[in-house]
Amino acid sequence: MKAKEVIYSDVLVIGTGIAGCACALELAEKKIGVCLLTSARDVKETNTKYAQGGIVYRCQKDPNLLIKDTIKAGAGRSKKKAVVLLAKEGPKAIERVLFEKLRMDFDRDKKGKLEMRREGGHSCFRIIHIKDETGRFIENAFIKKIKNHPFIKIYTDHTLIDLIVSKNKRKNVCLGGYVLDEKKKRIRVFLAKKTVLATGGAGQLFLRTSNSKIAQGSGIAVAHRAGAHLEDVEFVQFHPTGFYHQQVSNLLITESLRGEGAKLKNHKGELFMKNYHPLEDLAPRDIATRAIYDQMLKSGKPYVFLDAASYIPESKIKSQFPHIYKACLKYGFDITKEALPVSPVAHFLCGGVKVDLWGKTSIKNLYAVGEVSCTGVHGANRLASNSLSECLVWGIRAAENISSTIKGHNLPFPKRTSLEKKYKIKKSGKKFIQDKWSQLRSVMSKYVGIIRTPEGLKIAIKKLTQLEREIEKNSKNGINKELLGLRDAVQTGIIIAKAAERNKKSQGCHFILNPKQIK
Ligand code: SIN
Repeated sequence: MKAKEVIYSDVLVIGTGIAGCACALELAEKKIGVCLLTSARDVKETNTKYAQGGIVYRCQKDPNLLIKDTIKAGAGRSKKKAVVLLAKEGPKAIERVLFEKLRMDFDRDKKGKLEMRREGGHSCFRIIHIKDETGRFIENAFIKKIKNHPFIKIYTDHTLIDLIVSKNKRKNVCLGGYVLDEKKKRIRVFLAKKTVLATGGAGQLFLRTSNSKIAQGSGIAVAHRAGAHLEDVEFVQFHPTGFYHQQVSNLLITESLRGEGAKLKNHKGELFMKNYHPLEDLAPRDIATRAIYDQMLKSGKPYVFLDAASYIPESKIKSQFPHIYKACLKYGFDITKEALPVSPVAHFLCGGVKVDLWGKTSIKNLYAVGEVSCTGVHGANRLASNSLSECLVWGIRAAENISSTIKGHNLPFPKRTSLEKKYKIKKSGKKFIQDKWSQLRSVMSKYVGIIRTPEGLKIAIKKLTQLEREIEKNSKNGINKELLGLRDAVQTGIIIAKAAERNKKSQGCHFILNPKQIK
């Protein structure tokens, strides 16, 4: 590794979804220089892009209702201070950043009033949206704004290998990261006064997911290796309704279809949700997911049905849900005419790198924002459409904290020679990578998925640890982007499985079945 490959910046932000972009933009507008990295070739390839339903805004009724609904959905595990902050600052951040700065137009009714939707666990209509592709519009607007910003330099195809952490006697200090530049096949060192992890979630660890291909849990693994504290990582949220089709693994069917009246039916055509929760089809996600899972076990079929056709006018489906309508049509399903096969998909990691109200982690100068972080808002189960708002609020707050502490910050950057690490790059062995990914996904889905058992978690930890050893051995004579992704994914799988094993109590989306309950 040559010294000229060292890049200095004020702030290093890793991840280009809404949280990373919001943080980078706020900093850049204060003339703080940002290096913004993504491992993807396309800067817009993020989990944000796939968010359909919308973003939580203001409720016409009592504003405190969002606090109540969030805590209730979180099964009592949410941190109240974080929830109150989200409820207070979320709407203001939407107004200041999305409406004013990015000049985004959300859907409005004929009178020009913002249209509000409702999803599972919400006691009022408060979700603003743009058709069924809210996240894609937000992502596009952010990238358009930051693309040519003089204080932001974007690096695509740059994969974080490890954080650079100096082990200080009193506290570990983050100095940046070692990064693999995939296009030029070289290792680069990014040194920064502050580093922000915004790498997203870990849905790709499971066989079926709504997530982007970049959601491989990399930020969790990297932070863990650096010694950062993690929290609530056992709470993996499954979205109740992913399109069930052999050729499709990640098409989400937004909960707002149920908010508009669509209903779940079993193979006998029965409306089953009334047997599981008083809110029926709008029950919190963890409950709806387990209800569907139960129905799948009872019928022996890997899916149930979501019927929009019988409850929502055709014109409304086509105008409000054009993305889903067209995507399903491609696979031979017309949702204006027939019920759609659906089943739960891995969707959101409620826990992550533990942060405070400013996005600060337990490592000095390291922040985490968005899905990779655990602010405490979501507790044991996230309330629908709270995630984009959380990303925005904490992205902004991390930037505020950074800008107020970075001035006069004179980091004794390490000598270049001390940074020389012997990373060797090698070609990817496709078969090895594919085999190990499918083993990881099978283990995670079978033992660390919707229903867990103490015995199953033990098996998962054993199998994943074995996988980790094989990957380590394979990486001995060199690394590449695929191996790094796989390594981080397996380590994150182990972290999740171990956290699940430690937590003996079922709560929210961590559902642990006692062996005595198994028939
Ligand atoms: C959905 O549209 O159902 C997903 C929204 C979310 O996960 O918050």
